[in-house]
Amino acid sequence: MPRDEIRREETTWEEIRREETTWEENRRRRRLGRRFVDLDNGDEGDVPSRGDDLGGDWSRRDDVGGDSSTETTWKEVRRRDNGHGGDATVSSQLAMDVDKKDSVASDSSEQVVNPWEVAAKDGGKIDYDKLIDQFGCQRLDDSLIDRVQRLTSRQPHVFLRRGVFFAHRDFNEVLDAYERGDKFYLYTGRGPSSEALHLGHLIPFMFTKYLQEAFKVPLVIQLTDDEKCMWKNLSVEESQRLARENAKDIIACGFDVTKTFIFSDFDYVGGAFYKNMVKVAKCVTLNKAMGIFGFSGEDHIGKLSFPPVQACLSVPAVPSFPSSFPHLFPGKDKLRCLIPCAIDQDPYFRMTRDVAPRLGYSKPALIESSFFPALQASGENGKMSASDPNSAIYVTDTAKEIKNKINRYAFSGGQDSIEKHREIGANLEVDIPVKYLSFFLDDDTELEHIKKEYGEGRMLTGEVKKRLTEVLTEMVERHRMARAAVTDEMVDAFMAVRPLPSMFE
Ligand code: TYM
Repeated sequence: MPRDEIRREETTWEEIRREETTWEENRRRRRLGRRFVDLDNGDEGDVPSRGDDLGGDWSRRDDVGGDSSTETTWKEVRRRDNGHGGDATVSSQLAMDVDKKDSVASDSSEQVVNPWEVAAKDGGKIDYDKLIDQFGCQRLDDSLIDRVQRLTSRQPHVFLRRGVFFAHRDFNEVLDAYERGDKFYLYTGRGPSSEALHLGHLIPFMFTKYLQEAFKVPLVIQLTDDEKCMWKNLSVEESQRLARENAKDIIACGFDVTKTFIFSDFDYVGGAFYKNMVKVAKCVTLNKAMGIFGFSGEDHIGKLSFPPVQACLSVPAVPSFPSSFPHLFPGKDKLRCLIPCAIDQDPYFRMTRDVAPRLGYSKPALIESSFFPALQASGENGKMSASDPNSAIYVTDTAKEIKNKINRYAFSGGQDSIEKHREIGANLEVDIPVKYLSFFLDDDTELEHIKKEYGEGRMLTGEVKKRLTEVLTEMVERHRMARAAVTDEMVDAFMAVRPLPSMFE
């Protein structure tokens, strides 16, 4: 490895150490203030029950095809809409003050984004520009998206076109290698703490499915049931049950069983994986782990030993190394790993990237998204909360629940009176229905039309909410049908430790 590369990682490590202080402070404040609550915390949240099983398949739901005639449109949309493509409005349109974990944002003078907290400065919006600088990742610019389009011969996914995935680490290197004929593998995950996923959780999985299809590469999905057992006070059996339930939702996203291995930590950790865990754990001192996670003498030793598992470092780290999967990648120790996730997961992988060269492994590359916001998000205090099921739409919500939630709770940028609205139009910067449509309405032309008409006052909030209700109801319904078609045998098939002979085809 070149020297300046080493220095850069050392600097990154120093930066991480500096951030540790902030995290630790927040952890302490949280401990003092209230119990840790997160949106998908089944034991505290009012998690909705699963609806009727309808059967079906929605594996083509985000198939964007290969039509290049809309190329100009998506670039314009990307520039105008969210700025993640490179202009100064990066943090405005999709800069969400969502908190997938209930947090201490309100008393925080700095924004905090890590796997446990997503908290904007002074309860405002997450500044994604600043986050890129703080984390030291790179912006996903138009030239990279053009390359993806060229290499995959299909239109980039809507999440790329609209800047939902806006940051990366070494994605360019993965594409360089791919261009030379070297494939890679994908790795993503879920911490199974609740029965029902919300729409934000689906985002990395929908995107990963697109990447798998577009690049024709294998995928490993980690279910950190051990983490949730430790952190959410769930029993081992309940964590394992939730892992299987969540696996059904993940499979329902349409993954290809011939290219996908889903594993739960409880079932899979051992053998080569465990050896890598121990190697990684040896690179992390107790001081580092305590600094990062703010452990205190009151924490049970399971948490301290979990650092070698999910929470600290090695478990999320270890799937980044192909040698952890000898049944999949024998003799392919140099295979690059690409991790799609929201940017809250970045700290795990900064540390993984720091450790990797010390173990003789390649650093994993990342492609990272912004956060899907809470319904009430307005720039003030719109965090999703476990104690408020109305702050999010779940994949188990009925059509009626979706309609009610959108009508009652989705923050509107429309004006107080129709006259005023007709005169000055809606404030799209804060309007949740438009933000949600930016994630899930596939049709670029229709989205542009809605924004223009609504922004100039010719369309009313009610009409936009109606369209959003249609889009989300259809999407959730399709998910429900696909999910109902997932049997226990299918889960077993995805989770079987087996070679995947056609994984690169
Ligand atoms: P978890 O279960 O909290 O979240 C699962 C995935 O969903 C993303 N996510 C969101 N994305 C957009 N908007 C939101 N509002 C939102 N909320 C959650 C998360 O970033 C994550 O990608 N520790 C992890 C599980 C894990 C993992 C991984 C995730 C293990 N290895 C590798 C990503 C990559 C967790 O508890 O995720």
